[in-house]
Amino acid sequence: MTLITRPAEAGVEAGMMSGFGNEFATEALPGALPIGMNSPQRVPYGLYAEQFSGTAFTVPRHEARRTWLYRIRPSAAHHAFRPIDAGPLCGPLAPPNPNRLRWDPLPIPEEPTDFVAGLATIGANAPPDSPAGVTIHVWRANRSMQRVFMNADGEMLLVPQQGRIDLATECGRLRVAPGEIAVIPCGMKIRVELPDGASRGYVAENHGAALRIPDLGPIGANGLANPRDFLTPAAWFEDRDEPTELVQKYGGTLWATTLDHSPLDVVAWHGNNAPCKYDTARFNTINTVSYDHPDPSIFTVLTSPTPTPGVANMDFVIFPPRWMVAEDTFRPPWFHRNVMNECMGLVHGVYDAKAEGFLPGGVSLHPRMSAHGPDAATTERAIAAELVPHRIGGTLAFMFETSQVIRPTRFAMECPQLQPGYDHCWDGIPKSFRGTR
Ligand SMILES: [Fe+2]
Repeated sequence: MTLITRPAEAGVEAGMMSGFGNEFATEALPGALPIGMNSPQRVPYGLYAEQFSGTAFTVPRHEARRTWLYRIRPSAAHHAFRPIDAGPLCGPLAPPNPNRLRWDPLPIPEEPTDFVAGLATIGANAPPDSPAGVTIHVWRANRSMQRVFMNADGEMLLVPQQGRIDLATECGRLRVAPGEIAVIPCGMKIRVELPDGASRGYVAENHGAALRIPDLGPIGANGLANPRDFLTPAAWFEDRDEPTELVQKYGGTLWATTLDHSPLDVVAWHGNNAPCKYDTARFNTINTVSYDHPDPSIFTVLTSPTPTPGVANMDFVIFPPRWMVAEDTFRPPWFHRNVMNECMGLVHGVYDAKAEGFLPGGVSLHPRMSAHGPDAATTERAIAAELVPHRIGGTLAFMFETSQVIRPTRFAMECPQLQPGYDHCWDGIPKSFRGTR
């Protein structure tokens, strides 16, 4: 592990540590980390040691995630949490629905709304207290949190779409811009600040195995998301003795308590259960240089595996800028029906399978075995196209793909952003069959 202290060094931001899932060790004050042990009788600077576990103690070593935090006050120093209104967060699910669904972007609220208040749940494929599955939210907010949030229901993959987010976490600070993503461990306390004001984005709340970089198989030792491009913050803390509301999501409900101090008070830490961010512009995109194109799994950034090899609890897949050079090939994503379930979002630009209607900040949901693919206009254009090398640029679409059926929430099915005419984008695909029986 190397702490990068100069911005130009290795192309890594100042104060960030490079590598995915590393055992990091970092201290904001010299000598704050105990040497050679985790829990000494007296911790340097009068800090308290606290283990923060992301996996059961006894999982295989390569699955184990835990961090030792050295903090001004132990997290245990709090009074009872009380339930608070969760708004459209984790609202009830609608009945199963086999239809292809698409939403316009949810608007940024007019009234003051922070990240937590701006969360709305689009769908889920398991109860929030399940040890598997995923819940999908969007946020839309216009002011920085004055409180601190922790999600006891799952790890969070944050995909900002509009406006940067500054994440003050127990492990340090992360600035995440649209085009970048962040992964926050289950239970880690964060405060989301909005340096640009209005902010919108997507959240995949992963209840299953922690996200990791996929195996590369025949691709080899390099490619797709390279480990060195994941950045974890160096230790940072605030020492504020003032009332601070701590909100937690627990079992799909929100609870709050008021502390007499900021819980973002970790002066030093070591371990591998820590937040990170990744710039999708660093993704080493791999695709065909002959004909057809590989399945979209070739674009997997992170995956949460299940015990069945190759079957993901959740994949995070991107459709980044790339060259299209396939010969004699229908170049858009092909028509398909899929045993997996696909929830897509668009950070910016135009997704190459849809000529219109899929907007930045919007969402589409293609459930198991629903037929989908390029819309009619894209299909017509692709069949007629002269196949010269072509760069798809200025776009970033992504997919949360899951092996279990995602049920939309009642909120999602009843909100005015649900497009009533999504199916019509496939109208007008001509019958071009020229055979005879
Ligand atoms: Fe698909």
